[in-house]
Amino acid sequence: MNNPAELVVPRVQAAIATAFGEEFRQADPVVRPSQFADIQINAAMALAKKAGLPPRDAAAKIVEALNLDGICTSVEISGPGFINLSFDGTWIEELLNAESVQAASKATAVTPAATPQRVVVDYSSPNVAKEMHVGHLRTTVVGDSLVKVLEALGDTVIRQNHIGDWGTPFGMLIEHWLEIGEDSPEAALLVEDPSAFYQAARAKFDASATDEDGFATRARLRVVALQGGDTETFAVWQRLVAQSKRYFNAIYSALGISLTDDHIAGESSYDAHLAQLCQELEERGLARISDGALCTFPAGFTGRDGEPLPLIIRKSDGGYGYGTTDLATIRYRVRDLAANRILYVVGAPQNVHLRMVMTTARDAGWLPDTVQAVHVQIGNVLGEDGKILKSRSGAPVKLMALLEEAVDRARAVIDASRPELSEDERAVTARQVGIGAVKYADLSTGHETEYVFDFDRMLALSGNTGPYVQYAAARIRSILRKAGVLEQVTGGDGGTPAGTQATGIAAAGEGGPATAIAVVEPAERALALHLLEFDATLNKVRDALEPHRLCGYLFELAQLFTTFYDQCPVLKAEESVRDSRLALCALALRRLSGGLELLGIETPENM
Ligand code: ARG
Repeated sequence: MNNPAELVVPRVQAAIATAFGEEFRQADPVVRPSQFADIQINAAMALAKKAGLPPRDAAAKIVEALNLDGICTSVEISGPGFINLSFDGTWIEELLNAESVQAASKATAVTPAATPQRVVVDYSSPNVAKEMHVGHLRTTVVGDSLVKVLEALGDTVIRQNHIGDWGTPFGMLIEHWLEIGEDSPEAALLVEDPSAFYQAARAKFDASATDEDGFATRARLRVVALQGGDTETFAVWQRLVAQSKRYFNAIYSALGISLTDDHIAGESSYDAHLAQLCQELEERGLARISDGALCTFPAGFTGRDGEPLPLIIRKSDGGYGYGTTDLATIRYRVRDLAANRILYVVGAPQNVHLRMVMTTARDAGWLPDTVQAVHVQIGNVLGEDGKILKSRSGAPVKLMALLEEAVDRARAVIDASRPELSEDERAVTARQVGIGAVKYADLSTGHETEYVFDFDRMLALSGNTGPYVQYAAARIRSILRKAGVLEQVTGGDGGTPAGTQATGIAAAGEGGPATAIAVVEPAERALALHLLEFDATLNKVRDALEPHRLCGYLFELAQLFTTFYDQCPVLKAEESVRDSRLALCALALRRLSGGLELLGIETPENM
């Protein structure tokens, strides 16, 4: 960990302990960014109150006890009792060079979190025989990024794709599939246009509702057979689910999502446990019959009328529901997967449902206080009309078509701006930029905030967008290429800089010492200080579960790089300065592409 502010904290705590007594050592030193120095410490105000001193005197007491030798060049008390600190340039250089070595080992390398956790992340979770909508797209993208950040910090992450693969519609879907023939063109819709498949089954079902031995009746019998464990029906169901997995995997692969079939733990996998789960809750007095249905009434949830809100766990017809299955997921994740943190990356409209489930699970003792369960709420993605994004016909938007359009639009831009690149190079860049833009748009807004899906905005080359950050990285690549050191920095793989390089940039050919970065100009210093925030930023993403903080970090990194490059010549500088600045460029590139990698976004070779 090379973050100056964090390294200063224990020294401030020691000073507070000396000045005010050991019992204050753990007090928050309140370290904040400062307008007038590198950071400021604001702890004196609160401590002054406790000690009955004027705040500036309290600040003076802290400063007197503060040992910042070799770390700060100036310590000043200002205003009501702020302590302003300016870091020693040599210290910043040391930290930056350590950072450079760390990043050279791997673009995403950081110091592991102090207490690594076992985290279950439930995300994506689309439904069989239904189109994945933009809401699913967003939980998929946000979930996959959280997973990557947590893993980079040393957590053990267990991905759970809780697909909707069970319940009453499956009678109808199976019957329809058998009728049209599993190999028919209509059956292929399951992979190509799942909504259309579903609609066709539904239409048949509705049209035969009153027909005693018609489709609807057969569909109902089929559900009974499926739930009753009929082998033949079960086998058909398995084949049907397998088709849907092909559809999900096509989307995951287009998006570069790390989910595989191994991460699927769908609703069906909990079915065998539901009866016993209900019985247990009933026997322990945590659930009771209300209007024929077995319900829990977790404390703190009331309806509009002020009456306690029920979580139905067994319907009056004996069937189980979404809530029952979710209770089973918690029990399984705590007991069998041994999670100490469980994240539900799920649409915001399901918040009440998930909180009721969590409260019931706490009451039942299935979710002990030592285990944190969080609903990472995913806000809706809206169309230009401010309503949930729909296609012109009003049907759900086809996700694959949406992704293709993003790539096509990126392609048009790259064709116009870089005609000298080969056809293949332009195709690769267009895919990276188009997909990256869609993912970045999902990630850069607070995950619970709704946003309007707008191709022009997400593909813009300015502002906090994917293409802007990618462009900054591509630009650094081109600088390093011109200097003839790109291969050394990226390990020659042409993609994300990573690999075996243990040095910054080798100075004089093979085996030469790493080039040290000198931090001299203000723009170099600003860039250096920001680079030293990479670790801290990832830790904030981990604590707050907010990938948008990483986007904000990368956006600022891209901007600071641009300022640095405007103000500090690199290729034209005399040799020692040039080598140092190239090493700084290399570090900036590594953290830009490493950060993008943790967002699940690729770094284009050329742009
Ligand atoms: N399949 C659900 C849907 O499409 C999402 C499931 C989220 N996960 C969960 N454990 N409830 O809305």
